[in-house]
Amino acid sequence: MTPWMRKLHKWVGLIIALQFVIWLGSGLIMSVLDHDTVQNQHHRAAVAATPAWPAGVVSPSAVLAGAGRPVQTIQTHWLAQRPVYRLSHMADTWLADARNGQRVTVTPAAVAAIAAADYVGDGRASAPQLLREKTLEARGHAGPIWRVDFADDDATTIYVSGLDGKVLERRNTIWRIFDFVWMLHIMDYTGREDFNNTLLVMAASGGLWIALSGAWLLVTSFRLGEFIPARWRPRRELGVFDADGGKLRSVESHSGDTVYLALGRNGLQLPSNCGGGQSCGLCEVRVRGHAPAPTSADREHLSESRLKLGYRLACNLPVHDDAQIEVAGGAALWTQRTATVASVTAITPFLREIVLAPEHAPGPEFQPGAYLQIHVPGYTLQRHDIAHPDDHRDDWSALDLPGTLASKEAVRRAYSLSMPVEKAGGHLTLLARFSPGRQGRKRLPTGKGSTWLYSLKVGDTVCFSGPFGDFALKPGTQEKVFIGGGAGMAPLRAMVHALLDGGSSERVHFWYGARNLREAPYVEEMAELALRHPNFSWHLVLSDAAEHGSGLIQGLVHDATHAGLLQDHPDIHACEFYLCGPPAMLSATRQLLQRLGVSEEHVAFDDFKI
Ligand SMILES: Cc1cc2nc3c(=O)[nH]c(=O)nc-3n(C[C@H](O)[C@H](O)[C@H](O)COP(=O)(O)OP(=O)(O)OC[C@H]3O[C@@H](n4cnc5c(N)ncnc54)[C@H](O)[C@@H]3O)c2cc1C
Ligand code: FES
Repeated sequence: MTPWMRKLHKWVGLIIALQFVIWLGSGLIMSVLDHDTVQNQHHRAAVAATPAWPAGVVSPSAVLAGAGRPVQTIQTHWLAQRPVYRLSHMADTWLADARNGQRVTVTPAAVAAIAAADYVGDGRASAPQLLREKTLEARGHAGPIWRVDFADDDATTIYVSGLDGKVLERRNTIWRIFDFVWMLHIMDYTGREDFNNTLLVMAASGGLWIALSGAWLLVTSFRLGEFIPARWRPRRELGVFDADGGKLRSVESHSGDTVYLALGRNGLQLPSNCGGGQSCGLCEVRVRGHAPAPTSADREHLSESRLKLGYRLACNLPVHDDAQIEVAGGAALWTQRTATVASVTAITPFLREIVLAPEHAPGPEFQPGAYLQIHVPGYTLQRHDIAHPDDHRDDWSALDLPGTLASKEAVRRAYSLSMPVEKAGGHLTLLARFSPGRQGRKRLPTGKGSTWLYSLKVGDTVCFSGPFGDFALKPGTQEKVFIGGGAGMAPLRAMVHALLDGGSSERVHFWYGARNLREAPYVEEMAELALRHPNFSWHLVLSDAAEHGSGLIQGLVHDATHAGLLQDHPDIHACEFYLCGPPAMLSATRQLLQRLGVSEEHVAFDDFKI
């Protein structure tokens, strides 16, 4: 239920977030504004004692008799200095002069006198104006209404009834502000009075739901153990095994810690691009024995078959009792290695080959498809620390990078081997894509890892751990189809070289997608391999329409592979597929293969999430 709830919480929140801010903001403004000022009390005269009712006036019964129409109420009243009777029937009200019983109309002069008597302050009164149209400032009152403005700092306005001369409302600038935010607060944008309108009921219901679901999500995101300091929690033993079942060591954990944290405290840093944030999917371990039910984060990153085998994300796997886990990297996880930068080559404007000479000769575990975790220190770089060849200057200028590029924290980032180690003379070859960080109009920081890698120069020292990963060539001679894009060239290139150098005789196809020729790496190298190896074919697919018609394949790489190879393939189920590239390309290609009925076992892929 939690993932579903989280999604709904997010979208409902997005819809009513603005109203939430308005409620809080308008509530704050209303509570800050002084109530007496809003009511214009500071410009209101004290109520004068009512004069004694004069003798010798017409009696109420005579006034009623002369009214000539039904009357429900009759009251004595003063219109300015004039004694009058105030009569009413239903919604109608009128005045009769107490001295002669004649009907009295409220004149502009009377209105001016009434407004002046009600007001204290230094503002000069304007001439009374009879309102021709209803106004929000005098809403809720029937009959003719007079308006008198006072030229004071508060822009006071007094509204007087044209029926009986009563002061109806006293308004000023502060009241007008209050009234505007009140309108926003109750969401009655026309009448500003209806507290039961549908819009308000809907927004309030949504707001209540957001608060309740937020409380639920907050509670479910904490583990009880997190509230208890580590030293007070019981100790547990975590047995760490390699993938073949060989025991590596036991580490001590506090009950409630995640496996990721427990291993980290003991110097075993699992692969991670997100530092334990449950978003990179690299920290998987296999639980030996009974694995807890997978969480939504596990399901997001691990396939159903791996979940069934007991794989879980270590950063989302709490240790409650003594437990045993298997780590794919084995003993390599404890090892931090160093290497010296042997060469740096800008292959395309934003794909750079970095060759590392490791301090110790790499072992057989450095297989094509494997990746290293590069330890990126915290840094502050100047823009000019990132060198590039002259013919890439325009591409870099277009990025409009800030003068200083910095990352406060040390991070680790995964980079795949892009050449078999033997072929590279024992060197480790990486192909790193620069993450420029800007998306649309919003400026986002450049990638922490790739920025640092792009500042490396020959002779610099690099620390890394690994190799890791299970993206690897399968044994056997089945026909192989490599489909890639972007930095996905790295592991696929290493695999293709390893296959061809190993004398493979099966058909090997490499379909690679780039936006344009300028962004496509190793084009000549691949073309040359295709010339030398009749079983290897190379297909460059460009998505930019501008280069259409130059003899190159134009379109999206998965569509082109389908049209050029898969749709007419005599036995697609006998092929093995190796995929690596940007998330959209990867997902489109996997969906295509699924539609074509290719079994999951025949599809290996590496998701760089970039
Ligand atoms: C198994 C594996 C193998 C890989 N192999 C390779 C490889 O061979 N070559 C390669 O180039 N890459 C590879 N990657 C990807 C690589 O590990 C990094 O993820 C990639 O280089 C980006 O890292 P970064 O530190 O530069 O960017 P990060 O700092 O991680 O940022 C990632 C993106 O988010 C943006 N961003 C940063 N901060 C914010 C913010 N506050 N708000 C919003 N957005 C933000 C950045 O601009 C960037 O675009 C691999 C990944 C995996 C998992
Ligand atoms: S560390 Fe990234 S998902 Fe666990």
